[in-house]
Amino acid sequence: MKKKIQGLLLIAVLSALPAAAQRKNIDQKVDSVLKLMTLEEKVGQMNQYNGDWAATGPITKDGDKQNQIRQGKIGSMLNVTGVDHTRTLQEIAMQSRLKIPLLFGQDVIHGYRTIFPLPLGEAASWDIEAIERSARVAATEASAVGIHWTFAPMVDIARDPRWGRVMEGAGEDPYLGSLIATARVKGFQGKGLGNVDAVMACGKHFAAYGAAVAGRDYNSVDMSLRQLHEVYLPPFKAAAEAGAATFMNSFNDLNGIPATGNKYLQRDLLKGQWKFNGFVVSDWGSVGEMINHGYSKDNYEAAMQASNAGSDMDMESRSYIQHLVKLVKEGKVKMAVIDDAVRRILKKKFEMGLFDDPFRYCNEQREKAQWNNEANLQASYDMAKKSIVLLKNDPVNNLGFRALPLKENPAMWMQGNTSTKIALIGPLVKSVKDHLGFWSYDWKDDTARIKTLWDAVKLKAEPGAELLYAKGSGIMDTSRAGFAEAVNVASQSNFVIMYVGEERVFTGEAKSKSNIHLPGVQEELIKAVMATGKPVIVIIGAGRPLIFNWTAEHVPAILYTWWLGTRGADAIADVLFGDYNPSGKLPISFPRAEGQIPIYYNHYNTGRPAANDSDMNYVSAYIDLRNSPQYAFGHGLSYTKFAYSDITLNKKTIRPGDKLEAKMTVTNAGKYDGEEVVQLYIRDRVGSVVRPVKELKGFQKVWLKKGERKVITFTLTVEDLRFYNEQLQYVYEPGEFNLYIGGSSADVKEVSFQIVK
Ligand code: NOJ
Repeated sequence: MKKKIQGLLLIAVLSALPAAAQRKNIDQKVDSVLKLMTLEEKVGQMNQYNGDWAATGPITKDGDKQNQIRQGKIGSMLNVTGVDHTRTLQEIAMQSRLKIPLLFGQDVIHGYRTIFPLPLGEAASWDIEAIERSARVAATEASAVGIHWTFAPMVDIARDPRWGRVMEGAGEDPYLGSLIATARVKGFQGKGLGNVDAVMACGKHFAAYGAAVAGRDYNSVDMSLRQLHEVYLPPFKAAAEAGAATFMNSFNDLNGIPATGNKYLQRDLLKGQWKFNGFVVSDWGSVGEMINHGYSKDNYEAAMQASNAGSDMDMESRSYIQHLVKLVKEGKVKMAVIDDAVRRILKKKFEMGLFDDPFRYCNEQREKAQWNNEANLQASYDMAKKSIVLLKNDPVNNLGFRALPLKENPAMWMQGNTSTKIALIGPLVKSVKDHLGFWSYDWKDDTARIKTLWDAVKLKAEPGAELLYAKGSGIMDTSRAGFAEAVNVASQSNFVIMYVGEERVFTGEAKSKSNIHLPGVQEELIKAVMATGKPVIVIIGAGRPLIFNWTAEHVPAILYTWWLGTRGADAIADVLFGDYNPSGKLPISFPRAEGQIPIYYNHYNTGRPAANDSDMNYVSAYIDLRNSPQYAFGHGLSYTKFAYSDITLNKKTIRPGDKLEAKMTVTNAGKYDGEEVVQLYIRDRVGSVVRPVKELKGFQKVWLKKGERKVITFTLTVEDLRFYNEQLQYVYEPGEFNLYIGGSSADVKEVSFQIVK
């Protein structure tokens, strides 16, 4: 008891100190602990093991973990959850000689108990505050069950939807990706480490993991330093600047050097130039995997290379615990390297308040209060609605009316006493778990809170409508046996809602695909149902952009709904019926064929650009396919229509210190209140190195009532127009620029201006 009071006093005194004094205070404490530590204990802090309850990688059997904790040989564990488990292990850590508390880490990626949309789905909201809130809720729930540290956000840029982990990031754009990285770090860490509801964030996977050759997970990455700095690193830099407590390195090699053993990335850039003061954890087993890469002869050499390169903690490869002591004794790894790593790790443990009270995250009451928390559920519901993208909403069969929204659409409904028949068709209509997506382990036994689309639509449509159901096919089926029933059900209905897509486990870690077409015979099923002539709405659930060209061309109404989490089906039903007007915009380009990949809006112009999509005459084009994506970055419709005026600039030339103001009026010219993401792009016409045809430099999400108009102003300075020149200096150059504003990267108004000396 006395010890606890002392701890509390210490926290009170510490929080009363100014930040600089607190930092100094913590540094002194770290040093005083470090002085007491043996080399073996130091190496123990750099060692992380998986717990015995769940695994997110190839597990090494080991019945001796508790004993090793007692001996001070483990600094952190992953996949240990629940107050009871974390408490048990922390109690054992308190039996070790120096009583250094354990850190418990876990992949809390898009919610913990209350599941939020996939990160890629959330990115489609372009709603930075909502994204921060989502991370905040996840942290509040996770911290309540003893978790100190999440292995998120994944801030890898992804231009390749074959890559399974495309679902875990913010898409293809470095500007949007950086804002989202910042929001997620802030959300996870809340008011700062030391608050009991803060979990340490982890910027991962450092670096360029998203550019795996051919989209195959864990594959090599080969890219120019320009592309690395210009496209792949900005979200990492943003995460570091936002104060991410930790970083995780990556499985891939980058230009021949495995990221885990990469000194340039970890020491020179991250800890050097960016002054990152947290610690770097390896990815699962990635220290040992340097042997497979052909970079290390054995685990001994791998431990030497990784630690010297700045990888502070070894997740699960056991190379550090087995070899670092010997490596130091043999002079292959300097004591200063070990001390630096341990200092970084201990510092975070102090900042988290764990030395004051190792059990401060273990509180059964708090755990219970976060379980089934209504406010959290509401936040996930809100995020789910914001993440939905309306890809298409054309008039049905040229009948002159659109199928969506269903409500207030008399042409879709029977009048008088006859009830409307709605056919729900497709393999996902009655699915429960798929709504959760990949990386959702701790929703456990939560089926009561998750509705199927069938139930959510029924709630809205009844009474007055009768629902009919046919599965049509399974997700991966090659058989058309269920088509007849589907066609029969569709024929009896007034309109059809189809819910097709992937299974939730088709995108995620180790889930790369060579074929990203709508799986199985689902597109054939859509064709068969469309042939009935009924109005058809297609909803596509998936973790990645899929290819569905026939559907895109022929089906009048298409919603892309990723995996939206615990309240996913309710959110979809709200959008279908018009209780929520969709406002999501794609954070990634949707290809027409795998052959176009990598496909991204901010590409270079080339020396022979195609004049348009049908130009194939000795230009940079395919002879069998258009260049453009099926759906462009930034695309997403609303039930209302937004009209953009021309752009006006306050000046045609700018110098350093000037502010360029670009104004335009957006009018809600449609029938519904709604929200629009107004996007600003630039193009540097001539540079000392070639520049992309468009680069996102700003956006604003604006809410407009029906008939309302608003003047939108963007401000740019020369600082916003910088890029990496040939020497990789971050500079702006005088010259002409185009400036574009619009509702998608492919639909913009244009003006030009100049930077002058
Ligand atoms: C491997 C994944 O690449 C990484 O993102 C994750 O955090 C670890 N496994 C731990 O589960």
